[in-house]
Amino acid sequence: MNAQIIDGKLLASHVRAEWKQRAARLTEQGLRPGLAVIMVGDNPASEIYVRNKVKACSEIGIHSEVHHFSANTNQDEVLDCIRVLNQNQHVHGILVQLPLPSHYINNQVITSIAIQKDVDGFHLYNVGALVTGNTNFAPCTPFGVTMMLEQHHIPVEGRHAVVIGRSNIVGKPMAMMLLERGATVTICSSKTRDLPYFTRSADILVVATGQPQMVTAEMVKPGAAVIDVGINRLPDGRLCGDVDFDSVKNVAGYITPVPGGVGPMTITMLLCNTILAAERYQKNASL
Ligand code: GUN
Repeated sequence: MNAQIIDGKLLASHVRAEWKQRAARLTEQGLRPGLAVIMVGDNPASEIYVRNKVKACSEIGIHSEVHHFSANTNQDEVLDCIRVLNQNQHVHGILVQLPLPSHYINNQVITSIAIQKDVDGFHLYNVGALVTGNTNFAPCTPFGVTMMLEQHHIPVEGRHAVVIGRSNIVGKPMAMMLLERGATVTICSSKTRDLPYFTRSADILVVATGQPQMVTAEMVKPGAAVIDVGINRLPDGRLCGDVDFDSVKNVAGYITPVPGGVGPMTITMLLCNTILAAERYQKNASL
């Protein structure tokens, strides 16, 4: 094994300890940071994610509340709930857990969130802010990845970064954040023809395809930083990423494990964004 392991669990615990103090400071001043999570339907994966977010909030000192609607709820009812939360001074962050049921129009729901409470950074305004280099809230997963690169002093400027995945949640914002940091960025997807041609020239390879172990050692440039955003369950019940960790670790310079890599950082950055939103609220209230 050559690669240095980027331990997301360890980094997440350091970041959370630091931000716990910031949350405590606000609470002492009478402003406890608050996060509202909206969930529609009973997607089992979403239920686990939401449970983990609520637990993480309580550990760091953030008030959280879950507004759970049944899958057949009319979209207008959810929009009404968001409008009330937008005005609620105890709620500084609002998150709509995705995916929404198919009869919902994602953008209508997400753009109803007040931009200063959009801690996921998915509101079209905040997407535009990110793309134009005026980041308001960075989406949590790419934000966590950039922090991992920084902590390990992995150079980004002038390097070739390849992102496999073009989702609004990970691939696209990840590419924009790397571009903003001076990387030359290629965005691929699982459909890209001759994908290894691109990946083999990547100094930084971020993989978010949802295809178990699809990136193998032959696809990786020796010494590259390989960031695995995937989390998949194999038929034997084990968890694995989108990268074939056992072979790639012999070629890469840095690699994130699954579990214990990007996953713990994603929720951490949600906590950071929520505390940041509360700090900004306090600052504006005192002006
Ligand atoms: N579903 C999967 N990932 C995410 C995420 O980061 N935020 C939200 N709101 N929903 C998700």
